[in-house]
Amino acid sequence: MEVKIRKRKIVLVGTGFVGMSFAYSLLSEKGINELVLIDMNKDKAIGEQMDLSDGLPYADSKMTIKAGDYEECADADIVVITAGAAQKPGQTRLELVGINARITKDVATQVRMSGFSGILVVASNPVDIMTYVAYRASGLPKEQVIGSGTILDTARLRYNISKRLGIAPSNVHAYIMGEHGDSSFVPWIHCYLGCKHLLEYIDEEDNLTLEDLQNIYLEVRNAAYEIIDRKKATYYGIGLALKRLISCLLNDEKAILTVSTYQNNEYGREGYYIGTPAVVGSNGVEKIIKLPLNEMDQNKFNHSFDTLKQTIEENLQ
Ligand code: LAC
Repeated sequence: MEVKIRKRKIVLVGTGFVGMSFAYSLLSEKGINELVLIDMNKDKAIGEQMDLSDGLPYADSKMTIKAGDYEECADADIVVITAGAAQKPGQTRLELVGINARITKDVATQVRMSGFSGILVVASNPVDIMTYVAYRASGLPKEQVIGSGTILDTARLRYNISKRLGIAPSNVHAYIMGEHGDSSFVPWIHCYLGCKHLLEYIDEEDNLTLEDLQNIYLEVRNAAYEIIDRKKATYYGIGLALKRLISCLLNDEKAILTVSTYQNNEYGREGYYIGTPAVVGSNGVEKIIKLPLNEMDQNKFNHSFDTLKQTIEENLQ
């Protein structure tokens, strides 16, 4: 089904720290006409709408910001779901599956009942499973339901490699795949810095070692835990990661992002969502990029996928 961005209208469900960090980041986007804030706490949504609107005269954006209800989804191009409980210190994302599945299913059902036919973006954790829940409840084609997946993890990886080697993040082509969580992994054989393969930097002038790379990955995997231990939540990183995804959708960029995508055996597994590189444009996920994985990385992918599948079977079936 051809889904073309029509009104450049976005609905955000959930005006907590993640949702409002994302909403605030949209003030630097010029191409959005309308942002509607929905929250089960209607006063909160109204307060956030008032506060954010106050900044518009000093912002690049000229969008209208409203607080509203689910009927606003009917003519929206994109609905973003951030509603749900956040990780507590020491808690894994998978431990949120019970409470957040109920919230996500309720939200996606109300979005469906509005007659929404655009792109549904999910950021609530555990995001791969919440994207699957939203897909099932929304009635939308699977390509039009997209999870934030490992786009934030990939940003963290690129930033850490950039810092270690003194090369701009925009020239670091490295990807985190799998669960947005503890079973994610880096297919190092597919990482390039500009035109030079990352592994060619090993034991060169930068004294980069394989242990350094493993430590860089562990910093990425543990980032949320470290941040939550210090400030109780993460929201700026995911807020900007969501903005990157929305900009890609609105502008039909056809960029490659490691969003959470519905698997059709591209990597040997099917039927659930997980983070893989994919071409993202105004129709949603336009193509999953099939990276040839070596045996070690294929085993890591299988473990990550099976972890998500088992969590769904044990908690949601
Ligand atoms: C994080 C949250 C978004 O990784 O899961 O910061």
